[in-house]
Amino acid sequence: MAEFRVTPWEVEGEVDYEKLLLQFGADPIPEGIIEELPKPVLLPLKRGYFYAHRDFDKFVEDWKEEKKISVVTGRGPSGPMHLGHILPFYAARWFQEKMGAFVLIPISDDEKYLVRKERKVSEVERFARENLVDILAVGFDPERTRIVIDFEDTYLYKPAVIVAKRVTFSTMKAVFGLTNESNVGWVFYPAVQMVHLFLPQLLLGPHRVLVPVAVDQDPYIRVARDVAEKVGLVKTAGLLSKFMPSLESPFGKMSTSGGVEQKVIWLTDDKETVRRKIMKYAFSGGAPTVEEHRKYGGKPEIDVSFLYLLYFFEEDDRKIREIEESYRSGEMLTGELKAYAAEKIASFLEEHQMRRSKVLDAGPEEKLSEYRLNEEEKRAVLEWGKDL
Ligand code: TYM
Repeated sequence: MAEFRVTPWEVEGEVDYEKLLLQFGADPIPEGIIEELPKPVLLPLKRGYFYAHRDFDKFVEDWKEEKKISVVTGRGPSGPMHLGHILPFYAARWFQEKMGAFVLIPISDDEKYLVRKERKVSEVERFARENLVDILAVGFDPERTRIVIDFEDTYLYKPAVIVAKRVTFSTMKAVFGLTNESNVGWVFYPAVQMVHLFLPQLLLGPHRVLVPVAVDQDPYIRVARDVAEKVGLVKTAGLLSKFMPSLESPFGKMSTSGGVEQKVIWLTDDKETVRRKIMKYAFSGGAPTVEEHRKYGGKPEIDVSFLYLLYFFEEDDRKIREIEESYRSGEMLTGELKAYAAEKIASFLEEHQMRRSKVLDAGPEEKLSEYRLNEEEKRAVLEWGKDL
């Protein structure tokens, strides 16, 4: 496999996920842990899309002991959201519904402003608003969920400074791949994201916080873990996923960098568009001709439509096994597999879009206000760390 590089701001090449674990020093999901979780288990976790962790076992232990637990997952508003971006939020909702977790959702408009020269403040602010409609559509419980927006929530600055004091420039350079040409905002920003990861503890006292994200966000978890105990907090836990594959490659990341539409399924795509994109672009593990396919069979493990079904959209274990066997044996054709996957994805999106229009009808700002920190909570953040 060719060389690859994964940072929070760039993913190049075809990712070798096992190699990446060694590079990052995270662990594979421990055996047996899935059985301990409430049913139905979050599909991408059960099927190995979430494939690595840091202290997930301790998080599950704390849940079993009925201790307080939280989940943090966020969004950097760099454009409209695609299917891959929304997955960690559906995961967070599962942790809230099934395990009673408090959920904190940060919006890092500052980050996305800092990391691209050409980006304007007004752009990231607009995308923050647009993305929030999708995030609200996921359906979090307002009693147990808070949303923070970096440019607006200036009370985050003080804890960010407290955290920043404990991270050296050489750590930032090594962990995030920063260079002398990186602007200084970019050097500081990781301290802000570390505060996101700590925030449930600032609000509710020290307890275990799990961060479900794609593996590109792991560097933030690593530095947060180094600092947590130094500031009297519990070490952050992480649950790391692969990337949702790009339409065009089972090894690539669904991403719009480079602006290629054909790699991506947008959250706003309608049934016809999903079908057209899957039929036309989804990388196939089938043989080049029907005759050859019937004779030699297909390769589900590299077929993007199959992977979408396996990781996200086919809940039924028996059905996914049947599809796998039938495709591998050559009985099921690529066209049939694609049509089935397109149907499943479109119906997931239809439900998401229905909830999205409800948010729009209710008024997104009003809906958002249910999730913002109240005055008492803001004070708690500002009171934190007096002796640090
Ligand atoms: P962002 O906005 O780049 O991505 C949002 C979330 O989606 C994940 N992700 C993907 N997952 C699967 N397949 C893909 N192709 C794919 N592309 C992106 C990302 O890993 C992320 O979980 N810095 C963050 C935003 C942030 C945050 C946080 C995340 C701010 N504070 C605290 C977690 C916790 C970012 O830019 O994500």
